[in-house]
Amino acid sequence: MKIYKDIIELVGNTPLVRLNTLPKQHGIKATILAKMESLNPGYSVKDRIGISMIEHAEKEGTLKPGGTIIEATSGNTGIGLALAAATKGYKCIFVLTDKVSMEKTRYLKALGADVVVCPNAAKAGTPDHYVETAKRIHKETPNSFYPDQYSHPANPAAHYRTTGPELWEDLEGKITHFVSGIGTGGTISGTGRYLKEKNPAIRIIGADPYGSIFKPFKETGHVPEATPYLVEGIGQCAPTVNADMKVIDEIINVTDRDSFELARELGKVEGIFCGGSTGTNLFAALQVAKGLDEDAIVVFIVCDTGEHYLTKFHSDEWMKEKLLLEPQKITAGLIAETKNSGSPQSLVFAESTETVREAMAKMNENSVTQIPVLEDGQSVGSLTEGNVLAKLLENRDLLDASVNDAMSPGFPVVDIDAGFEEIKAHLRSNPAVLLEEFKRIRSIITRSDLLDLS
Ligand SMILES: Cc1ncc(COP(=O)(O)O)c(C=O)c1O
Repeated sequence: MKIYKDIIELVGNTPLVRLNTLPKQHGIKATILAKMESLNPGYSVKDRIGISMIEHAEKEGTLKPGGTIIEATSGNTGIGLALAAATKGYKCIFVLTDKVSMEKTRYLKALGADVVVCPNAAKAGTPDHYVETAKRIHKETPNSFYPDQYSHPANPAAHYRTTGPELWEDLEGKITHFVSGIGTGGTISGTGRYLKEKNPAIRIIGADPYGSIFKPFKETGHVPEATPYLVEGIGQCAPTVNADMKVIDEIINVTDRDSFELARELGKVEGIFCGGSTGTNLFAALQVAKGLDEDAIVVFIVCDTGEHYLTKFHSDEWMKEKLLLEPQKITAGLIAETKNSGSPQSLVFAESTETVREAMAKMNENSVTQIPVLEDGQSVGSLTEGNVLAKLLENRDLLDASVNDAMSPGFPVVDIDAGFEEIKAHLRSNPAVLLEEFKRIRSIITRSDLLDLS
């Protein structure tokens, strides 16, 4: 019988998966492999350090039975710690920033942890910063353990002991490049140190969001002011003890847009559903692999699962809100779904048989100045406030006539998948366009809906 003794036994020994389509699309000859940390039981690379830091503390006596684990985390370390804590009977309090996705916050609570949220805008070292807050809660909580993943030696040690040897053995020593993001620095420093000891020629490459300090710090020794970016879990506003710059050969900067686009692409063309920092790593891996021949083997870390970001960059609406969606991917359907009222079902329309008075009342009630006239789901005309008022000034009796007698020609109709440019072109000469799906009018886009996008 093969039975795992608990969920923690499933941490590590993650598989390597070859990318097929993306390297071809980028004209790359080298092999690019995904190290599938998203297949850990807590769905991230951080499961490895959760158990490692807890067992280290148990041995040292800093974590005692009935104790509480307190940590500042972008979510995944919390999940790794919470899994181990649940199996061992410890309580957990995690301090997050308000940048962390709702999915990760709820996940932590589902694992029995208490969660405290701090403003992401708080500067390092100030009382509201999430790390300072975690330290304060630790001081105030009896029998508590504060692992501090940023400096705890068991963080890089977990990768030195497991991630590095897995890569070396699975690839029979043939790995040539290792690409990882740098959050605490544990993954890149521990794995990188192991690989360098085995073969100093292996290149260790950091992937760093624009706005983080790691690249300028590595290249100049100075720490610039960090600026905000949206990718979670990697990059810092100050150097960390666990990010060993000596192990890293090169750091590549990546934009939010490139990170999210590649993370989305990895799911679409390779079936690997991942988080944003994986997109950062993938961008760097593709850049590095471009100049290499077919003998090169480039491994990048798939840090966590896309499930954590379904309401963030895996949502077209969120991407559009953050102005990160390429204009050609903004479709009529997407604009209609995200406009004020939300649902495409909420289309306000008149029927040609109702009276002009009834139709005008409907426009008033819904605060709209133009409505389509539909019959059996098809556009047969339109009513715009301006046109109707002009006609009523000439003939007041029209108010009790049918819409049929007062309507103007219908608005242009486009398919729900029509692109932004086509809609823009129609709206130059029409007040609105109608969206058709499966041969029925579903929604309307007006000029003011486009103001949100410009
Ligand atoms: C999503 C994600 N990716 C990457 C990392 C970076 O890993 P490390 O802290 O080992 O540098 C983290 C760390 O929190 C993370 O949450």
